[in-house]
Amino acid sequence: MTTHAITLIPGDGIGHEVSRAVVRMVEAAGARTGVNFQWEEFQAGAEAYERFGQYIPDELIHSIERTRVGLKGPVTTPIGGGFQSINVALRKRFELFANFRPIRNLPALPTRYPEVDLIIVRENTEGEYSGIEHEVVPGVVESLKIITEKASTRIARFAFEYARKHARHKIHAIHKANIMKMSDGLFLRCARNVSKEYPEVVYGEHIVDNTCMQLVMNPYQYDILLLENLYGDIISDLCAAFVGGLGLVPGANIGLESAIFEAVHGSAPDIAGKDIANPTALLQSAVLMLRHINEAATADLLHAALERVYRAKQHLTRDVGGNASTTEFADSVIAEIETSPAR
Ligand code: NAI
Repeated sequence: MTTHAITLIPGDGIGHEVSRAVVRMVEAAGARTGVNFQWEEFQAGAEAYERFGQYIPDELIHSIERTRVGLKGPVTTPIGGGFQSINVALRKRFELFANFRPIRNLPALPTRYPEVDLIIVRENTEGEYSGIEHEVVPGVVESLKIITEKASTRIARFAFEYARKHARHKIHAIHKANIMKMSDGLFLRCARNVSKEYPEVVYGEHIVDNTCMQLVMNPYQYDILLLENLYGDIISDLCAAFVGGLGLVPGANIGLESAIFEAVHGSAPDIAGKDIANPTALLQSAVLMLRHINEAATADLLHAALERVYRAKQHLTRDVGGNASTTEFADSVIAEIETSPAR
């Protein structure tokens, strides 16, 4: 029996429901493959502040320093004031510079496009998310967008290395360098320089507004999208719609020393506490996590069970046209795991 310590941040809103469901499904798969999980669980955000007086408790930080791998549910960020995003803070604290989001269809789920296979690689530490804002004089606010050669080169290299390793053929850097000539110009220059080291990967550049239109017209024209932080955030949600919505799309925040796996979606206050959220996005994030910690057999088992539940169409959640609860969906994935032929 192998044991992995994982830092678990359930999050808030639907985070409680989806992370509880995902832990059950991951443990069921581990029980079949001889993998044990030791969850080190911590709250973050408003709930952590109420209980411990800290938005990100020190123990949580120490836990990630130890385990180097986290599974995280969404955390609510107050709008137009209040504390800074916990998600952004964790990404910066652990230099999780690459946000990796594969966008793929699940079987038998009718969607706008049936064969999407896109990879979003988003710079995760700077851009407009630097959080440097101030009121110059009443009525005038300045917000700084930071773009550095170091971070731009690092994320471009991540995208090209991924392409090389996984035989992906094309990368588009997405920008607004016609307007932000210096900042987005630097991002593009770095991407171009890195691209020269990977002649087998076709490199292209598209302006972000055109990219939105191109994606909606024909997402198949793209393979890997390389984006700054804000553009990556927005285009991730757009692309999620191709394959059935935010309930499905996973993500990974990857650094040199540690990684935190979380869905693209947020805390969905409109459906929180009703046991109706779709845990697929966090489950698929957990599958990415299992591959990251070299537990491919457990990842494969989980993913195959998930696919069978989608093919059967009997226990799907409301966002994808079913009427199962979060719990019922998780139960049916677990039943599939338990009845899979032994390896
Ligand atoms: P959201 O992603 O929470 O919700 C957008 C829409 O998608 C809602 O209609 C929601 O019901 C639906 N949805 C999202 N996840 C779903 C799921 N698993 N199953 C079924 N339906 C789902 O985005 P919103 O409303 O803009 O943000 C809410 C809060 O979440 C904000 O405070 C925001 O800052 C935070 N947030 C946190 C993230 C994180 O922790 N990584 C990422 C994005 C937003």
